[in-house]
Amino acid sequence: MTGKFITFEGGEGCGKSTQIKLLSEYLKQKGYDVVTTKEPGGTEVGQEIRKLLVCGDKDKFDDVAEMLLYFADRRIHLTKKIWPALEKGSIVLSDRYADSTMAYQYYGYNKRIQKSRLNDMYKIVAGDFKPDLTLILDIDVKKGLARSYAKAKTMEVKELRFEGRELEFHENLRHGFLEIAKENPERCVVLNADKTIEELHQDVIDIVKERLGL
Ligand SMILES: Nc1ncnc2c1ncn2[C@@H]1O[C@H](COP(=O)(O)OP(=O)(O)O)[C@@H](O)[C@H]1O
Ligand SMILES: [Mg+2]
Repeated sequence: MTGKFITFEGGEGCGKSTQIKLLSEYLKQKGYDVVTTKEPGGTEVGQEIRKLLVCGDKDKFDDVAEMLLYFADRRIHLTKKIWPALEKGSIVLSDRYADSTMAYQYYGYNKRIQKSRLNDMYKIVAGDFKPDLTLILDIDVKKGLARSYAKAKTMEVKELRFEGRELEFHENLRHGFLEIAKENPERCVVLNADKTIEELHQDVIDIVKERLGL
């Protein structure tokens, strides 16, 4: 595949959506064909799965059912959108991908589902395919949640199923993302997201240049 696949990861309110939009505009200006997408919900069918996952009561199904829905969404996302775009040479920017599954399903839920099981599931849906670069936006949990709540006030459909969880869950997530970065230094870069939008955008551009030469 000739394109590049870049994923953005991190907790709620760290600035993923904001930075993807800015990076997309930057790369388009440089003449690249860019596809922006997200998980869950990167495809039409995925949107239906997303609604099940992010809206409503946090206990409406358990962590195992949740994990299976995420992997179903990912398979559809890869086959219908990500792989075809990469074949065409596009740069694909995804707001969350597999590291979020590991962070939420493993670190967030106190390691109820084994890491090796999650890795096996990943292999079933994606084989050996991996992002070319993963940017992990790291911020103090309370600061991120405050941003996220402020944004939700302005949204019609409130996607707050996760924001409602206890602080410890979000602290575990943050720790999880940092562990994932340590285990995958060739793919992951951690960025301090407690900066202005413009400052962080510049950091993103620097890394994308350094790592992928874009
Ligand atoms: N660096 C930043 N400083 C202050 N506010 C920010 C910053 N980045 C994003 N925001 C604001 O915080 C909210 C959450 O940002 P968003 O990009 O949606 O985060 P995420 O997609 O990671 O949940 C938005 O209202 C956004 O405008
Ligand atoms: Mg977002």
